Amino acid sequence: KRPAGAPDKELAKPVRKVGIVGAGLMASQFALLFLRRLQVPVVITDLDQGRVDKAIEGIHGEIDKLQGKGRVDADTANRLKGLLSGTVDKSDFADCDWVIEAVFEELTLKQDIFAEIEEHVSDEAVLATNTSSLSVEQIGAKLKHPERVVGFHFFNPVAVMPLVEVVKTPHTDDATLSTAMVTAKNLKKNAVITRDTPGFVVNRVLAKLLGTAMHAVEQGTPFEDVVEAARPLGLPMDPFVLLDLVGLRVGAHVLDTHHAAFPERFHASEALTALAEENVLIEKDSKGEPKGI
Ligand code: CAA
Repeated sequence: KRPAGAPDKELAKPVRKVGIVGAGLMASQFALLFLRRLQVPVVITDLDQGRVDKAIEGIHGEIDKLQGKGRVDADTANRLKGLLSGTVDKSDFADCDWVIEAVFEELTLKQDIFAEIEEHVSDEAVLATNTSSLSVEQIGAKLKHPERVVGFHFFNPVAVMPLVEVVKTPHTDDATLSTAMVTAKNLKKNAVITRDTPGFVVNRVLAKLLGTAMHAVEQGTPFEDVVEAARPLGLPMDPFVLLDLVGLRVGAHVLDTHHAAFPERFHASEALTALAEENVLIEKDSKGEPKGI
C-alpha cells in the first residue's frame, strides 16, 4: 500500500544549523552537501578528535576540488570552510535544529547516540538517521520525543545520487516529515516517503540483486560470468563494483538484515561477511583482475 503523502510544507521548521554524528565517509559526504546547499553552520562529531580532524581535512580537500573545477568561487570556498566545525563534545550540538547520524549500523549504538543528543538539543530539533536497514522506529525507541525521528537515507556517492528515502515511523509527526521533505528539496535531492520496513525500497531491490550475485559465486559460478550475466541489466556498475562502492561491511549488513527478515526470499552471504572482515575490495584492481573471491 502506498504510504501517506507529504504533509503541508508550511509545517516545515527552519534548518539553521546542522549536526552530523560520525566522521566516516558518508558523514563527510553529508557535511559537504549540507554546507554547499544550505550554507548554514555544520558541526561534525565522533568519539575521537583525530577522526574529526581527519574528516574536516578531507572535506576541505573536497571544497578545494570543487573550487578547482570552477563549481564554487574562492570566496564561497572559504565561507563553506568557515561554516564547518568539529568537536567531540555533544553539547556543541545545542543549537542544531537538524541532526543526522551516520555511524556504524548497530542498533544500540544509534539508540544511545540519539538519547545523548536529545539531552543537548531543543525539543524542536529533528533527529534524522541514515540507517540503510535498521528500524528507524527502534532507533528512536529511547527518546522522550520519538515524534522528531525520521529516516533520511542517502545513496553513495552522495553528491551525485539524486534520491533520498524519507522514512516515516508510526511516531514521526507532520512537522518532522515536512522538515525532512523540504530539507531534501533544499539539498536538491528527490525525496520519496517510505514505510519503516527492512531495506525501505531501494535496498530491498539492491539486496535481491547483490545477494543473488554473491550467492551465484558461492555456488560456483565464475565471478566473471556473473558480471557478464548482469550486463544486459544496463546497471551503471556491476554488482561487485557496487558492493565495493557501498562498502562490504554495509553490504553484508544489508544482506543479513534482509535474510533475517525474509529468510525465504533473500540470501545472506558468508563470503561477503568474511571479505568485509578482511577489509579487501571484491573486484578489480587496475589490471581488471578480480580480487577477493
Ligand atoms: N565519490 C564521489 N563522487 C563520485 C564518485 C565517488 N565514488 N564516483 C563518481 N563521482 C562523481 C564524479 O566526480 C563526477 O562528478 P563531477 O560531475 O562533479 O565531476 C560524477 O560523479 C560523475 O562521475 P563519472 O563521470 O565518473 O560518472 P560515471 O558515469 O562513471 O558514474 C556513478 C559514476 C554516478 C557513481 C555511477 O557509476 C552510478 O550511478 N553507480 C551506481 C551507484 C549506486 O547505485 N549507488 C547506490 C548504492 S546503495 C547505497 O548507497 C545505499 C545503501 O544503504 C547501501
